[in-house]
Amino acid sequence: MQLLVLGGSGRTGQLIIEEAISKGHNVVALVRSPSSLAARSGLTTIQGTPMKREDIKRAFEASSTPPDAVLVALSLKRVSDSPFAAVSQMHQLGLVMEDSVANAISVMKDFGTKRITIMSQWGAGNSFSSMSFLFRAMFQHTNMKYGLAAHNALDEETRQADVEFVLARACILADGEAAPVRIFPEDGKSIGFVPKITRASVAKFMVEACEKDDFIGKSPVISN
Ligand SMILES: NC(=O)c1ccc[n+]([C@@H]2O[C@H](COP(=O)([O-])OP(=O)(O)OC[C@H]3O[C@@H](n4cnc5c(N)ncnc54)[C@H](OP(=O)(O)O)[C@@H]3O)[C@@H](O)[C@H]2O)c1
Repeated sequence: MQLLVLGGSGRTGQLIIEEAISKGHNVVALVRSPSSLAARSGLTTIQGTPMKREDIKRAFEASSTPPDAVLVALSLKRVSDSPFAAVSQMHQLGLVMEDSVANAISVMKDFGTKRITIMSQWGAGNSFSSMSFLFRAMFQHTNMKYGLAAHNALDEETRQADVEFVLARACILADGEAAPVRIFPEDGKSIGFVPKITRASVAKFMVEACEKDDFIGKSPVISN
C-alpha cells in the first residue's frame, strides 16, 4: 500500500513508519524537520506541516499514486514529556490536530483517498464513561484536558466527514515491544483501572487498520 503519515517524527509516528515499511508498504512522511527521520528504502520524507493544506497536497503528489490511506499520530506540543505538562502553543489550542485532519480530509477528497486512521485516546467520546473517578478528574482538571478536548473535537469532525475512518482510542502509552492488542468496545467497557499499551502495539494496530476493513467507521479502545 501507499501510505501517508502525519506526525511521523513523533514517538508513535516513527514506530508507525517502521512497522509500515517492515510490512512492505511505501510511506510518505510529512514532517516539519526532515532530519528527525533517518533515510531508508520505502520512505519519502517531505518537509512541511499538516497545518498547511498545500503541504499535504505536496505530500500526496510525492508518490506516483495517491496514498491508499492517511495515518495520523499528531499531538499537542507540551513543554515537557510529562502528560501533565502545559501545552506550549496555547494560541493553537486544539488546532494542530483539528486543522491538520480537516486539511488531510479535504485533500483526500480531491485525490480519491478514502481511508484515514487516527491515533485517538481512551477517554475520547463515550469512552470517558469507562474511566475511573480518578482518571476522569485528571482529564477534567489538569493540563491533560487540552489533549482530550482536541481528541473529542477530532472525533466529531472525522465522523461527520464522508471517509473511511478508524479512531484508535489508545489507553495509557508505554514504551516497549509490540504485544498482542486487546480490542474493547467504543465505550471502553470492562477495560480495567490503569490499562496500558505500548506505542509499538498502537503502531501495529494502526497499520493493520489500514490493511483490513474490520475497523472502518469504528473507534475501538485498545490496550495490551
Ligand atoms: N500519553 C498517553 O498516555 C496517550 C494515550 C493515548 C493517546 N495519546 C495520544 O497519542 C498521540 C501521539 O502521541 P505521541 O506521544 O506519539 O506524540 P509525540 O511524540 O508528542 O509526537 C507528536 C507529533 O505531532 C507533531 N506536532 C506537534 N505539534 C505540531 C504542529 N504545531 N505542527 C505540526 N506538527 C506538530 C510533532 O511534530 P514535530 O516533531 O515537528 O514537533 C510530532 O510528529 C497524541 O495525540 C496523544 O494525545 C497519548
